[in-house]
Amino acid sequence: MTVKIFDTPQVQDFLNTVAGFDQAGGSERAKRIVHRLLADLYRLIDDFDVTPEEFWATIGLMNELGKGSQFGLLAPGLGFDHYLDMRMDAEDEARGLAGGTPRTIEGPLYVAGAPVAEGITRMDDGSDSDSEVMWLTGQVRDTDGRPVAGARVEIWHANAKGGYSHFDPSQSEYNLRRTIITDAEGRYRARSIIPSGYGVPEGSPTDRVLKALGRHGQRPAHIHYFISAPGHKHLTTQINLAGDPYTWDDFAFATREELLVEGRPIDDAAEAEARGLEGPFTEVVFDIELSRTEAPELQSRHKRPRALEQAAD
Ligand SMILES: [Fe+2]
Repeated sequence: MTVKIFDTPQVQDFLNTVAGFDQAGGSERAKRIVHRLLADLYRLIDDFDVTPEEFWATIGLMNELGKGSQFGLLAPGLGFDHYLDMRMDAEDEARGLAGGTPRTIEGPLYVAGAPVAEGITRMDDGSDSDSEVMWLTGQVRDTDGRPVAGARVEIWHANAKGGYSHFDPSQSEYNLRRTIITDAEGRYRARSIIPSGYGVPEGSPTDRVLKALGRHGQRPAHIHYFISAPGHKHLTTQINLAGDPYTWDDFAFATREELLVEGRPIDDAAEAEARGLEGPFTEVVFDIELSRTEAPELQSRHKRPRALEQAAD
């Protein structure tokens, strides 16, 4: 039977009590946000006639998401990460800080404290000899085209099976994770392996939510970046390797036209030797443009829970 009780004074008074409006302590902002959130959910229960079975199944699902630390995986799937990016883009526009390489989502798989190298490094531990060798390079510049020497370029990506070190126990510590400080010309260079795309674990609570929406949980092959330098706006971004079937069908909504990079396969002994490589490789070039800012709060990444962040900082 359909009943509508949301707009009754009893329910409205009850909401005020639940949100702590009649209590002196606590946070005013928390009270207002929780009141709004609960009001929207109470109304939703009324409007959709949510049954007790549906409600408790959802609580069970949320417990499973928490147990598996999967909220950080579901959040991009539900578009929250991209929505926050859209808001930050709009804030940059309003501040006159638009321009430069676009941001895109961080994702939940960064690990703080990766080894730091000057100008050039190798990111893979050499244990995966079947993978395609990647030569990843680029120049960091400001929006006037001047090279930024000494910029911190943090890079992390999956292996050829789509797994990330630290979260995938089969990989060595910090495999495919490095921080490179750009040289005098603002350049960074890294030997690594071509990453694969990956999907949310089959049958996981995140997968079940996406399947209920008729969606998949796949991501195209990509490489994550944090780039920072004094006097410049911190940039969180990713590049997508062109040609992946999921390029424009990323469950996490991270793809941006400007961040699509075509790898160039090179099978030339002299070119390989010039980079200290032994055989054929794929060169991936990603140049980065940073906007300038004097505001210190814009020069570093925003706070969020990150693996080993406390230990490293
Ligand atoms: Fe990723």
